[in-house]
Amino acid sequence: MAVLGSGYVGLTVAAGLASFGHRVTCTDVDVDRVDHLVAGDLRIVEAGLTELIEDVRSLGRLQFLTDNIEAARSAEFVFLCLPTPGRSDGTLDTSSTEAVVTQIGRHLAPGARIVIKSTVPVGTARRVAELLQRRDVAIVSNPEFLSEGTAVDNFLHPDRVVIGSDSVRAAMDVATLYGVGGVGECIVTDSQSAELIKFASNAYLATRVTFINSVAELCEATGANVRDVARGIGSDHRIGTAFLSPGPGWGGSCFPKDSAALVALADDVGVDATVVRSVIAANEWHSVRVADKIADALDGDLSGKTIAIWGLAFKAGTDDVRHSPALKIVERLRERGALFRAFDPGVSRPITGITQCTTLEETCRGADAILVTTEWEVFARSDLDALGSLMTRRIMVDARGAIDPGVALLAGFDYTGIGVGRDASDLEFTAMCLEQETRDPVVHATYPRHRDAADQSP
Ligand SMILES: NC(=O)c1ccc[n+]([C@@H]2O[C@H](COP(=O)([O-])OP(=O)(O)OC[C@H]3O[C@@H](n4cnc5c(N)ncnc54)[C@H](O)[C@@H]3O)[C@@H](O)[C@H]2O)c1
Repeated sequence: MAVLGSGYVGLTVAAGLASFGHRVTCTDVDVDRVDHLVAGDLRIVEAGLTELIEDVRSLGRLQFLTDNIEAARSAEFVFLCLPTPGRSDGTLDTSSTEAVVTQIGRHLAPGARIVIKSTVPVGTARRVAELLQRRDVAIVSNPEFLSEGTAVDNFLHPDRVVIGSDSVRAAMDVATLYGVGGVGECIVTDSQSAELIKFASNAYLATRVTFINSVAELCEATGANVRDVARGIGSDHRIGTAFLSPGPGWGGSCFPKDSAALVALADDVGVDATVVRSVIAANEWHSVRVADKIADALDGDLSGKTIAIWGLAFKAGTDDVRHSPALKIVERLRERGALFRAFDPGVSRPITGITQCTTLEETCRGADAILVTTEWEVFARSDLDALGSLMTRRIMVDARGAIDPGVALLAGFDYTGIGVGRDASDLEFTAMCLEQETRDPVVHATYPRHRDAADQSP
């Protein structure tokens, strides 16, 4: 089989399918990228992917090429994992998909199946069929739901596989490729439903994140603690805990473009999309709020102030900075005169306008404040006291809840979080728990940081 496009999705799909026992040829139009892949350098950060690719290549099941036609010519299944970037009007640009279908169309083997993995507008599978003009080749919509950072596990053990096609036979053929063992549920439907499931899923997840960010703002205004509130909401089995972590707003290569595409689709067919439209607007506001927090912590004057940016990727576990909230906030702060030094353990590629460091120490030397923008675990384990000693002032704004407020407080930081407020009594309470836990195993047992639990302790 062939997988066309060797980005985050294509590489994972190719390696995953090869690990199921299939022989896969994976292509990319980017010659340099393919050269690196042949040499074993993925040039993306994705847990377990390098090892999986090494394994399947050593078994002779995966090869990389630049030639789409050669890869597709003898393939029974051709997976399209091509970019579908968003346009300024919210619609998605499917020109790569159309160009590739036109390119490979007449070279496909009789009875081949084209499987669309990319996130594409509703109706794309049908348009591709018209473009192809090959009655013997079925088009299957099989949207990918992996998350960067956990892509390999998501692909090998998906909650569900969604397969849509006008040909039930072709849909069932694709279903069998997944080997069903680790698949939660296989949903076979028409191609429009499959295409819409992808947009609706991402818009819903974005809505949850925005919802908890709005609740976090309420927590700050009322003295509540969003961590406890989120736990209280999420422990209702009808709701669940996933995607209820407050932060600087969502970003990445999928949520922004897929939410905008859902709104564009609704507008196009005359359906009201107020909910998702409001979520997109609120998401902008949450990044403004983070920028305001750092300005407030620095007494409103950011001019010439150096901020240590901890994290550039849109989330931990990836090097992907596409539509990263960190970069959005940096731009807001830059407009107010701030300077930056950034460190992200996953991002080594240069980013225009940002001085990138290789350690947290480097970011902190002479800095006026720390802004935590990505939730890398290594940040939580850092020696805050030592890092604070390198700074002009011990100020921290933690937009991810990545640092324990009590630990920051004990290290002498003026700490501002999201949804935990700057309520000194809460922070002091946490610090007290931390101090006591080393002496008192009962308090240790009641940790984490719940006022009631500690009140009940001897
Ligand atoms: N990244 C994610 O987390 C994720 C998750 C689910 C779905 N998706 C969707 O999957 C699709 C691919 O996303 P991605 O993140 O892998 O993108 P990507 O930009 O990382 O990878 C796309 C690759 O396709 C290559 N390409 C472009 N034109 C080509 C052509 N004509 N022939 C061969 N290769 C070509 C590019 O060089 C690039 O390497 C998008 O539609 C995206 O919305 C992404």
